[in-house]
Amino acid sequence: MDFHKSRYTPMSRRRRIYEGKAKVLYEGPEPGTLIQHFKDDATAFNAKKHEVIEGKGVLNNRISEYVFQHLNNIGVPTHFIRRLNMREQLIREVEIIPLEVVVRNVAAGSLSQRLGIEEGTQLPRSIIEFYYKNDKLNDPMVSEEHITAFGWASPQEIDDIMALAIRVNDFLSGLFLGVGIRLVDFKMETGRLWENDVMRIVVADEISPDSCRLWDIKSNEKLDKDRFRRDLGGLVEAYTEVAKRLGIMSEGERPQGSGPVLVKS
Ligand code: TMP
Repeated sequence: MDFHKSRYTPMSRRRRIYEGKAKVLYEGPEPGTLIQHFKDDATAFNAKKHEVIEGKGVLNNRISEYVFQHLNNIGVPTHFIRRLNMREQLIREVEIIPLEVVVRNVAAGSLSQRLGIEEGTQLPRSIIEFYYKNDKLNDPMVSEEHITAFGWASPQEIDDIMALAIRVNDFLSGLFLGVGIRLVDFKMETGRLWENDVMRIVVADEISPDSCRLWDIKSNEKLDKDRFRRDLGGLVEAYTEVAKRLGIMSEGERPQGSGPVLVKS
């Protein structure tokens, strides 16, 4: 029997399309789809710092599913189709626009460093920033002028991306405020999705505590990846707390996903 010609492809033999720092993309079951797999790897400072944190991928898969499903429901277009299992979700294949779109509501991180504004200062209004997605260059901040001059996105696309960013920020701010969490800032990515001959910009990648700053409203405790970046410890506990407050991980459920676990749909 020739196993190589068999129509059966075991999970581990799926075609790997792309491997990033925290996720892997595999070929999907139908043309135009991909499978997004969440790893347990945590990196910071352009992967100079790296650790495997057991359970992180499972938590981010669940939290990102929750956010993207809600965005779809309120009419914000995304690449998300559905979650498949503890670590994977089915997504639409899009052409990723090489920009990290950061929305800030409260001063923190690189904004505080660059402009000397104390962390925790409420900003006069939400601020959108663009970073060019390029690890070799350390994701430098860029302006709309750079983006249009170098053809990464058109002026119309920048308008669409900013409109999406504002809608996502409004939704996320309300969602987290409702569970006692302040959305300080977040990063999102976008992609071009073609349906027949029509192209639209959709939210892509993930939205999770890896890509947001989330502070407890009362204690200001950090419930996001700054726990790893700043060596504070307790990352899985913090992400589990976020999942629990959102009502997506019940008491006693273990994020590790070892052994048979009932997957609720
Ligand atoms: P920053 O203050 O370090 O510029 O980060 C702004 C937001 O973007 C913060 O919520 C963390 C997120 N972020 C990423 O998701 N990926 C990155 O590579 C960086 C630098 C930040």
